Amino acid sequence: MRSENLAVLLTLILSFISSGKLCERHSPINVLEEEYFSFCCPKKPQHEGQVIQWHKGKKREVLIHGDSRIDLNGSNLQFWPILLNDTGIYQCCLGNGTCKEWSLNVIKRNKNNCFTEEHLITGRDGIIGTSYPFTCSSTNDSANVINITWYKDCIEIINKRGEEEWHIDQLTEKDGGKYTCVKTFLHAGKKYNSTSTTNLNIKGTEEKITPKLIGPGHNVFKTEIGKEEILNCTAFLGYSKNFVEFPYELYWIVHDKSIEICQSNSSLCQKVERKYDENGKKYVMKQLWFKRVKEKNFNSSYKCVFSENGSEEQTFILQKESNPDLPVHAFTAGMIMAIMFSFIAVMIVILCVIFKIELVLLFRDITGKDETLGDGKLYDAFVSYLKDCTPICGEERKFALEILPKTLEDHFGYKLCIFERDISPGGAIIDDIQSSIDRSRRLIIILSQNYVYDQVMFELEVGLHKALVERKIKVILIEYMPKNYFDFLPKSLELLSSSQVVKWKEEKSLPLNSKFWKKLRYAMPAKPTISAACQEVTLQDRRKRTNAFGITSEPSLACY
Ligand SMILES: *[C@@H]1O[C@H](CO)[C@@H](O)[C@H](O)[C@H]1NC(C)=O
Ligand SMILES: *[C@@H]1O[C@H](CO)[C@@H](O)[C@H](O)[C@H]1NC(C)=O
Ligand SMILES: *[C@@H]1O[C@H](CO)[C@@H](O)[C@H](O)[C@H]1NC(C)=O
Ligand SMILES: *[C@@H]1O[C@H](CO)[C@@H](O)[C@H](O)[C@H]1NC(C)=O
Ligand SMILES: *[C@@H]1O[C@H](CO)[C@@H](O)[C@H](O)[C@H]1NC(C)=O
Ligand SMILES: *[C@@H]1O[C@H](CO)[C@@H](O)[C@H](O)[C@H]1NC(C)=O
Ligand SMILES: *[C@@H]1O[C@H](CO)[C@@H](O)[C@H](O)[C@H]1NC(C)=O
Ligand SMILES: *[C@@H]1O[C@H](CO)[C@@H](O)[C@H](O)[C@H]1NC(C)=O
Ligand SMILES: *[C@@H]1O[C@H](CO)[C@@H](O)[C@H](O)[C@H]1NC(C)=O
Ligand SMILES: *[C@@H]1O[C@H](CO)[C@@H](O)[C@H](O)[C@H]1NC(C)=O
Repeated sequence: MRSENLAVLLTLILSFISSGKLCERHSPINVLEEEYFSFCCPKKPQHEGQVIQWHKGKKREVLIHGDSRIDLNGSNLQFWPILLNDTGIYQCCLGNGTCKEWSLNVIKRNKNNCFTEEHLITGRDGIIGTSYPFTCSSTNDSANVINITWYKDCIEIINKRGEEEWHIDQLTEKDGGKYTCVKTFLHAGKKYNSTSTTNLNIKGTEEKITPKLIGPGHNVFKTEIGKEEILNCTAFLGYSKNFVEFPYELYWIVHDKSIEICQSNSSLCQKVERKYDENGKKYVMKQLWFKRVKEKNFNSSYKCVFSENGSEEQTFILQKESNPDLPVHAFTAGMIMAIMFSFIAVMIVILCVIFKIELVLLFRDITGKDETLGDGKLYDAFVSYLKDCTPICGEERKFALEILPKTLEDHFGYKLCIFERDISPGGAIIDDIQSSIDRSRRLIIILSQNYVYDQVMFELEVGLHKALVERKIKVILIEYMPKNYFDFLPKSLELLSSSQVVKWKEEKSLPLNSKFWKKLRYAMPAKPTISAACQEVTLQDRRKRTNAFGITSEPSLACY
């Protein structure tokens, strides 16, 4: 039951829609004489079955009866064909008196043309690049259509034969014109036409379809000597859709001479043209390539010529960049400089660490810095070494009594306190050692295999006590022999920092400029060398002492 109702309802709706659409004709209606024409009386479903009456004249003067020419068929009033004297007011009335009225105007045909000027319909404007639909008149009834023919400006569009509706995808300027559609009907063995003509105006809100160069006619580019430069010349060819190739030329010239096509050895040449599509448009581009811009390239007019039914050109001029931004090479140079400077800074730091001692000594030499002034001490260093062990430890003795003082005193101007040499015997040894260490700025301990011995042990302990506990004296440890020889040394020795440990390497350490002496001097207090220290008193003093201990010495070494 329900589905039946639904079907009925659907049919009603469909017929309403179709009848409404078919009968949509607005007064006045223009038709060409001697053609088929049909009125359609808009009939709503509820009027179904009601009688339709057709009248002519404002006041329904004439009731129209069908005849061989005029056909009353259902809700249609058909003319086979319509004639000039059919012009007038027409009304269709439903059984109870509801009427619809039209004014019909029959136009005399222009026999020399496929369309008649007064009969033209002005369609909506066609916008270039957009699509445009065509429909062959709204006349639609049960009449028998046998042919549909389309004409553009009265030339038949062969491939649109039989098409009721069709469209142009993308309008071009060339699409403008008068489109005529002739629908042919067969009625009672005779053919009748129904013609409608639409005038299509093209409006170009986008680029015109005419192929042309893109961009300004005159172009100036700032550039620099040596820079690679590419000039682009682009022409618009048309719309990509349904694009039809056509002949054209695109080339570069300078001083009216053509420019060579790029080869491997070219430095100024035109590249092979390239076609491409962008946003539905087709373009062709030809580039002019400067491998490196030269002085002579400036101020010349490079012309790009596009010829297609006439020719068009663009001019390009290269000008020297007057106020260039930071050029690339300057930037690179800056980067290199920055890297170099930071590298140099790092190197300097590394060198300072490696040559710390040399630099400190050099600094002392240059400035003549003297740390010994005014501290009330008599000696620069107290030398503690193995004693009374002849002949086993002759070498250490020689080092302590000869090599060490000879170098430090005669060459570097230090004053050493060597117990055997400088302390006159007689007093209490322990007190003497104490006071001598007190009056010294450094304690030099010559560490050898045989070092440990009670007096020396005492010196060592006093010195280390002063150094580590009282912090009154700095200890310089000379490793006359490798340290691992002695496992019985006070642990406190190991607390000395490595900068205060100097290793004696026999022959290698002998020269004055050896690492040994440098390190030793570095550990000693700063004191101006040689000339300042070269005093007659010291010399005489020394001579006297050496004699007393029978140790050979060459006074000439002390001063020069
Ligand atoms: C109405 O038109 C149809 C289709 O053309 C046709 O078959 C029918 O005979 C016509 N009726 C009259 C009364 O002419
Ligand atoms: C209209 O003109 C035709 C011939 O041209 C004629 O046969 C017909 O009777 C005329 N109709 C009227 C209503 O005058
Ligand atoms: C004719 O019929 C329509 C709809 O059926 C109604 O609206 C209208 O009033 C009727 N007119 C007369 C004169 O009876
Ligand atoms: C014309 O009518 C026929 C059937 O009567 C239908 O198939 C066709 O779609 C209609 N054309 C238009 C444009 O309404
Ligand atoms: C349709 O009309 C054209 C032009 O008048 C004609 O060449 C063609 O043969 C016709 N086609 C039919 C099926 O009648
Ligand atoms: C109908 O139009 C065609 C052109 O499309 C023409 O050749 C033919 O003669 C016309 N027929 C009538 C009856 O006017
Ligand atoms: C020409 O086009 C290329 C890329 O196609 C671009 O790199 C170059 O900068 C352009 N030249 C100019 C002068 O605009
Ligand atoms: C490049 O080489 C060709 C031969 O391979 C020669 O004819 C042409 O002159 C050369 N061009 C230049 C700019 O050297
Ligand atoms: C190019 O022309 C500009 C002004 O038009 C001028 O200042 C400049 O010196 C010229 N350069 C060369 C290389 O001729
Ligand atoms: C060239 O352009 C003129 C108008 O500018 C036009 O009349 C002519 O048909 C065109 N020729 C070609 C081959 O496109």
